[in-house]
Amino acid sequence: MHNRKQLEARLQAVGIDCGCDKVVPHHYHRFYATHFLDYVDHPFKLLEIGVGGEGREPGGASLQLWAEVFPLAEIYGLDIYDKSVLDRDRVKTFIVDQGDALALNEFVEKHGPFDIVIDDGSHKRSDQLTSLFTLVSSVVPGGYYVLEDYFTSYWPVYDGSTLAKDFLDTPVRWLKQSIDIINRNNLLSEPVKALLPDWGVEELHVYPGVAFLRKGMQAVRSEIPGGDFFENQLELDELRYGKYQAQFLEYARDPMTHLAQLNKLKRTLEDKVARIKSPGRSKR
Ligand SMILES: C[S@@+](CC[C@H](N)C(=O)[O-])C[C@H]1O[C@@H](n2cnc3c(N)ncnc32)[C@H](O)[C@@H]1O
Repeated sequence: MHNRKQLEARLQAVGIDCGCDKVVPHHYHRFYATHFLDYVDHPFKLLEIGVGGEGREPGGASLQLWAEVFPLAEIYGLDIYDKSVLDRDRVKTFIVDQGDALALNEFVEKHGPFDIVIDDGSHKRSDQLTSLFTLVSSVVPGGYYVLEDYFTSYWPVYDGSTLAKDFLDTPVRWLKQSIDIINRNNLLSEPVKALLPDWGVEELHVYPGVAFLRKGMQAVRSEIPGGDFFENQLELDELRYGKYQAQFLEYARDPMTHLAQLNKLKRTLEDKVARIKSPGRSKR
């Protein structure tokens, strides 16, 4: 395999053969071809959360796709159901709940680190976040953490929301935050910086439906100029916005508390309006 186009064509052909939804209907093979070209013909370890088929069928379409296209890869699949019927020499499956940080840690201690981790499991935001926060550190420098179908952050059936999207803690919020994480050296405020995990991520590639976070090869980051410049910038930021710091930090810690505050404010306003409309009415 020599170029990206050839890899895209191969992923497409094998993906269709296996009935893998990464190809039809999602068309993610184009993006996998862009990022995974260097892995063809090299030994590496890939972990995918979510084997497929749920509890009814064996599934395993993507495990088959990876095994065929990457002949030197060791492939690990996690699922809440027993998928061991799919196990063969380079493909191994394990029963692990992606929402259970302890179980994930135990698994990684035994089988990690990985060159690539792909989350295509429950697609529920808390499970996705538990997996991301637990597993990103088990990705080797230069490797990828891939979030599939992250748009479920917008859908209530997966515990997401479109209306409240800016007030929920979701994978989409953390993809946006990863811009801050990538640039954490240029953040001035220590309390703000302390709220951002140092994942060692240096690239973010966001496509429709799938996002790739790439770990840095080494901790080479753009540095802010030291001395007076740093002190002046910090002072200016604090002069302008320092009086709101507590609210900013509270929001950064948990945007969901703002939903509760907005609800409280809404109830207070509704009470006021009700009392104006009928002055005799008692307070709720
Ligand atoms: C969309 S399918 C995976 C498809 C597969 N990756 C492919 O591309 O062919 C989702 C899988 O995630 C599994 N799953 C659901 N909740 C899970 C959890 N909490 N932890 C691990 N796997 C889970 C389901 O059993 C199902 O097999």
